[in-house]
Amino acid sequence: YVVGIDLGTSAVKALLVDKNGMVAAEASRSYPLFHEHSGWSEQKPEDWVTATIEALHEVASANGISAEQIEGISFSGQMHGLVLLNGENKPVRNAILWNDTRTTEQCREIERTLGDKLLGITRNPALEGFTLPKILWVRQYEPQAFEQAKLFVLPKDYVRYALTGELHMDISDAAGTLLLDVAAKEWSSDVLVAFGLPASFCPPLVESHGLVGTLLSEIAERTGLKASTKVFAGGADNACGAIGAGILSEGLTLSSIGTSGVILSYENDKNKDFQGKVHFFNHGKEDSFYAMGVTLAAGYSLSWFKKTFAPNESFDEMLQGVGEVQPGAGGLLFTPYLVGERTPHADPAIRASFIGVDGSHERIHFARAVMEGITFSLNESVDLFRSVGKTVDKVISIGGGAQNPVWLQMQADIFNATVVALENEQGPGLGAAMLAAYGCGWFESLEACADKFVKHAASYEPQPEAVETYKGLFRIYQQVYAQTRGMN
Ligand code: XUL
Repeated sequence: YVVGIDLGTSAVKALLVDKNGMVAAEASRSYPLFHEHSGWSEQKPEDWVTATIEALHEVASANGISAEQIEGISFSGQMHGLVLLNGENKPVRNAILWNDTRTTEQCREIERTLGDKLLGITRNPALEGFTLPKILWVRQYEPQAFEQAKLFVLPKDYVRYALTGELHMDISDAAGTLLLDVAAKEWSSDVLVAFGLPASFCPPLVESHGLVGTLLSEIAERTGLKASTKVFAGGADNACGAIGAGILSEGLTLSSIGTSGVILSYENDKNKDFQGKVHFFNHGKEDSFYAMGVTLAAGYSLSWFKKTFAPNESFDEMLQGVGEVQPGAGGLLFTPYLVGERTPHADPAIRASFIGVDGSHERIHFARAVMEGITFSLNESVDLFRSVGKTVDKVISIGGGAQNPVWLQMQADIFNATVVALENEQGPGLGAAMLAAYGCGWFESLEACADKFVKHAASYEPQPEAVETYKGLFRIYQQVYAQTRGMN
């Protein structure tokens, strides 16, 4: 067996996976988020460690499985979160998370200081969520804490350190810090020098499947695992989500509809230029990359709709009959900008809209329009990928959007691509387990592991008539942003 640990924003989940990719046991522990001021989002690194040890203990105690049979562990982690460590590798303050938005001022400073080098080296724009702006914020506003800080790591790196005593960062997660030269896979001395940070501020880099060590004896005792259990670096949650869905070669795209939504496309070419319009990060598979666009309020839009208009119904009840409403929702169009939008607008101020309301519309038309609007937003990323010559003809759908056959067909029609759902989908935790399985030498490549672990379920083909209807509506959808941005 191997264990995949998914260190998320609300909870950690451990999956015990066998050699066929079947989940033999799983355990989850949650931890609090702290919002001391509006826009702030922090967690205590020690909470992650305690929760991870408990979850590991639970899966290690699963019936009929002995610690001897558990060969390796790896991680998937929430990206970008800043953990500053002192000379004894203890956190000097709480971690500042990916969804914390206090760093707008520092983002502008990064743009001014680096100019064209920002995109040239880091391949990404300066966004509030990324790590370097958070480092600059602490230096500016908490100089005493900063003075104690000797280096930084990301959330799952800290947990891995607590389990093994070894401090590293994997390249897929380092890509989200704005300190990595993404194409060269090394810390950028240009960026470090520009912000007066010493090279020693960054931990040693390692590949996602790289072996970093074994468990400390105290951790072995507390979890019930053997001390010789191998620990592999792991990757960013989006990279691990992609691995867990088998996105490991050109032509494969991932559509993930959770609270937020992601369209992610595998990329072989380190020089592919997306001009900063989508994120461009190193993948968890060695020497490969992925481009990614984000819809901020994807599943969140449908949850908002349910909470507001169908509070006493389940999602299934609310969506009963949504397949009988024709594509286009009877002329009703929704833009899902409830909390602003990331791709393609990077605009925290824009807000959502319904347009085209007709006296004959019922709640089910609105529900369908919400699903279509979310999918149109994801299609903006698909469109961006195609505009730089990428082929998007096969999309693996995961998350809430993959639970509903109407939504799967809708994705096929709006993306104009084949959409495939997975059997027994497990998200990033399975990707982490696959990194451990590959690291342990069970397979000769991650692709061979995916052949065994990732199982396709139903597949949906675009229907020409619906494709045409949606093409027309998407052109109108794209104009709504410009027309409504002055409203707030
Ligand atoms: C990616 C991002 C989120 C976090 C969530 O850029 O900010 O997807 O990785 O954990």
